Amino acid sequence: MCGIIGYVGKQKAAPFILEGLKRLEYRGYDSTGVAILQNGAFSIVKKIGRVANLEKEVAKAPLNGTFGMGHTRWATHGGVTDANAHPHLSSDGKIVLIHNGVIENYGSMKKFLLTKGYTFESETDTEVLCNLIAYHYAKEADSAEENRCLAAVRKALLHAEGTYGIVAMSVDLPGEMVAARKGSPLILGLGDGENIVASDVSAIVARTQSVVYLKDGEIVHLTPKEFRITTLDQESVAPFVDQVTWSVADAEMGTYAHFMEKEIFEQPIALENAMRGRFSEDGSTANFGGLNISAGEFRGIERFTFCACGTALHACMVTEHMIERFARIPVECDYASEFRYRNSPLFRNTLFFVMSQSGETIDTLAALREAKRKGYKVLAVTNVVGSTVAREADGGIYQHVGPEIGVASTKAFTSQLLIGAMLALYIGRMRDLSFSDGVDYVRALKGAPDLVRRALEQAPHIQAIARRYARYADMLFLGRLSLFPIALEGALKLKEISYIHAEGYPAAEMKHGPIALISADCPSVFFAPSGEILNKIISSMQEIKARQGRIIAIITERVELPAGLADEIIVIPECHEAVLPIVASIPVQLLSYYIAVERGCDVDKPRNLAKSVTVE
Ligand code: F6R
Repeated sequence: MCGIIGYVGKQKAAPFILEGLKRLEYRGYDSTGVAILQNGAFSIVKKIGRVANLEKEVAKAPLNGTFGMGHTRWATHGGVTDANAHPHLSSDGKIVLIHNGVIENYGSMKKFLLTKGYTFESETDTEVLCNLIAYHYAKEADSAEENRCLAAVRKALLHAEGTYGIVAMSVDLPGEMVAARKGSPLILGLGDGENIVASDVSAIVARTQSVVYLKDGEIVHLTPKEFRITTLDQESVAPFVDQVTWSVADAEMGTYAHFMEKEIFEQPIALENAMRGRFSEDGSTANFGGLNISAGEFRGIERFTFCACGTALHACMVTEHMIERFARIPVECDYASEFRYRNSPLFRNTLFFVMSQSGETIDTLAALREAKRKGYKVLAVTNVVGSTVAREADGGIYQHVGPEIGVASTKAFTSQLLIGAMLALYIGRMRDLSFSDGVDYVRALKGAPDLVRRALEQAPHIQAIARRYARYADMLFLGRLSLFPIALEGALKLKEISYIHAEGYPAAEMKHGPIALISADCPSVFFAPSGEILNKIISSMQEIKARQGRIIAIITERVELPAGLADEIIVIPECHEAVLPIVASIPVQLLSYYIAVERGCDVDKPRNLAKSVTVE
């Protein structure tokens, strides 16, 4: 949430910062702002709305300085106004600050600062922190400390409760910048005669592939040529310089209309990348390099707990189905946000997993920390290399699907389903899954990208259906077994990007309440794959039809529905059970996408949402 970027270098800062803000906009898009240090003063431009608005404003008065910072906001404290937008300037004009996170004790800080004569123009916690830094900066005037701004930021942060990723600059120290993090991601990009700090890699890759992932509790002092990391307690930190493996093109839309569309159609390649090099030589099981847990230890696991949020939780629920089905080990799935406070009992010999595309979701991180505090080993499935989840977990599996920019998760989701299915295979093969079943399973997983390609061929047909259903106000998504979580996911996708009220239910559970919603005005999307319970699913469809409900049926190739039962039919390829949820996800992603486009919604930036939820 909130995108932040700071630049100290030799080129004009504003164009680079605006470009970076566009790449970071998916993190929050209520308002944006930029501050450039030039001619001995800060030039600050802030605007509600998108980066495009800010660009127009900036064009009115050229910004030529080579040091500056920019911010794209997802509001927490204070409404969406120009005044509440970042950067914030201290009331003495000395310090400028951008911030991602929440300063919880800003009320008491503000009371103190008011007694010292500082004034406030916004309702934000950030402006309070900015003035607290200015207060310490003023006190540091005669300090012998090497850098006054660094010392002031450090002192202010020692009083700050809550979370932050911040970038600060002083008007007196051109070419110097201070950044720090606790609970909100920050990355340094090391360029040639320039250094960058940003909340994620997408804002940096246009300039450099060399990055340093800052850790919680670290503070960095940057100049165009140098950087020095210390802890808040002034301990020196030796940086680890990493190389980003993806390029600018990965973070660009290309010929697609939206990132979501691009990411839906990228899924065959994303799946290939997620499985590459992860099957055993004998072709009967999966291999994972970074689990940091021996096969023997894995063998001793008697129960799994999976925690995540939103779409990632749906991926966990499918993984639960696969592990229980193929490895015969009980699995529990939990909302990370509930787990952290519920103090639920965990069994001995439980292995704890979290899934998080961004690796920064605060609730998921809190669940990870809670499980570790209780002495459990925690493994993570995550997409973002160097993310906090990746660093704090005892081991894990990277998704390797490149940056996911669309706020609605698509390719990250199907790759989580793939990894979940591979985990089930890995554990199953340590137990009762035979060699030949393992070989069949591996063959099926390897075929997933092609099956997804075939499912994507339905796009024009699904787009035509979307046109007919875009004006409904309510919709149900119904599925059974491994497709129940896909029904939940379909409902989530539709509601988050098209604002249509949608609910996901196990198909047979529908008659225990939701059936009351059924009328000609509330269509249902049914998953009806071939299999033992197809007839039961058909019965549920008949119950809906008997009540004038319209039905969009997603069936596999061999299924023949009674004539007239479904109003619309989408056919996906027949496939192995382990792959079915991946393939079945495609039509609901496309349906939601095309409905949202038809309704004129801002697909990549749905209202009130932001990618990577780093506040509670
Ligand atoms: C929905 C969506 C969210 C995320 C959730 C967890 O399309 O993207 O529900 O899945 O906020 O995010 P990560 O996976 O980054 O922890």
